[in-house]
Amino acid sequence: MLNKKSLYTVLATDLTHDGDGVAHIDELVVFVPGLLPGEKASVRLTKIKKTFAHADLVELIKPSPFRVDPPCPYFHECGGCSLQHLTYSAQLDVKRNTLNQALRRIGHFEGVNALPMVGMDNPYRYRSKVQFQVQDYHLGFFAKKSKRLVKIKDCLLIPGDMTVLKGQIEQVLHDHELLVERVVIKKSVTEKHRMVIFYGEVPGSSHLKRIKIMAEELKNVSSLIWMDTKEHKYYHLAGEDSIEEEILGYRFRISPLAFMQVNHAQMQAMYAYVLNKTSLTKEDQALDLYCGMGSLTCHIAKIAKHVIGVEMVHSAIRDAELNARINKLENVDFILGTVEEVLPKGLPEDFHADIIFLDPPRAGVDSASLQSVLQVLPREIVYISCNPSTLARDLAILCHAGQYALQDVQPFDMFPQTMHTETVVFLERK
Ligand SMILES: C[S@@+](CC[C@H](N)C(=O)[O-])C[C@H]1O[C@@H](n2cnc3c(N)ncnc32)[C@H](O)[C@@H]1O
Repeated sequence: MLNKKSLYTVLATDLTHDGDGVAHIDELVVFVPGLLPGEKASVRLTKIKKTFAHADLVELIKPSPFRVDPPCPYFHECGGCSLQHLTYSAQLDVKRNTLNQALRRIGHFEGVNALPMVGMDNPYRYRSKVQFQVQDYHLGFFAKKSKRLVKIKDCLLIPGDMTVLKGQIEQVLHDHELLVERVVIKKSVTEKHRMVIFYGEVPGSSHLKRIKIMAEELKNVSSLIWMDTKEHKYYHLAGEDSIEEEILGYRFRISPLAFMQVNHAQMQAMYAYVLNKTSLTKEDQALDLYCGMGSLTCHIAKIAKHVIGVEMVHSAIRDAELNARINKLENVDFILGTVEEVLPKGLPEDFHADIIFLDPPRAGVDSASLQSVLQVLPREIVYISCNPSTLARDLAILCHAGQYALQDVQPFDMFPQTMHTETVVFLERK
């Protein structure tokens, strides 16, 4: 009988999505934070269920040759990163392996192998968007699997100037005794615009006065926004109401509620790969589902005869329409609505998509929308995913109906030091 007092020796074979080591004691799966694949350790069980258990690492008996000292002093506590204790090349291998496993176990694709992951030359300080939790005017991140705030001086995933700005924000929040729940900073890499979004209850009039003074004290912020957490509505406090970014030579306006990719360099690498590899020609009509503020849509328009983008966030569609105009594109249209609503009845009657691009959120595409895609029967489907599990599930629906064959599966490391993986998959009609 397993118990919480004894020590057990285990060998980790895998990592979970949170970066915990996966080991076994007989049939029982044991999750051990901090343990890497190939490592042997002595562990103490902290939670025992019928089919799985959680354990604390007590002593590392055989360390992995790929183990390194995490450069961040908060790594063991903070819930932001999960892989800093692994060499970067091993991180790329582990994530590709996880993707392959999802394709086999969830998608039932035998013999499919993802291409080597496209990594970064410098896998730190890559984020152009960061969300801080706030307690007592201190900005930080929640500890692993908890709501306890880890106060940090610097985060190695964000550029140094964002860390400086974080310090200024803490100072003004403290000086003006302003209570907020969260703070988001978004930065445009090419234009150096910086948007600060405070999340909290709607500020009263005395609050607003202090916020106005505070806005003047926050130097180098081009846009200051207050997000009402109850109504999910935003108030434009100072500066511009959006930031501008250049992506592969086109300019884009991004407003506070519009989705923004967090890793500019890897986003450009991924877009370039997609645009280079697609069979899209100037004779083709294309559909860009889950198009956000139209960044990929505008680039598709450069090649296609006509493209329609579909997106459910109103302000993102407003941005997308403006972005098409800024880039002088006339062969683009956008439809506001969910993919679920638009696909069955919202597309123009004379429009037929030769190619469909899908870039859904982590939950993937709902099964009815996948059936609609299959009914359209485009020549090619390009699926961009940030979640290998839902990707594998959706690819199974698209391919196992027999009309599409899986082509290249190309992962991009959009989120170094974490277990997250971005993947581009091409499907070709048989
Ligand atoms: C991963 S982002 C991709 C955005 C864009 N393709 C890009 O590269 O920046 C997913 C987008 O889908 C939108 N979205 C989420 N669920 C949706 C749905 N059911 N219908 C339409 N859009 C949706 C989100 O608002 C977000 O803009």
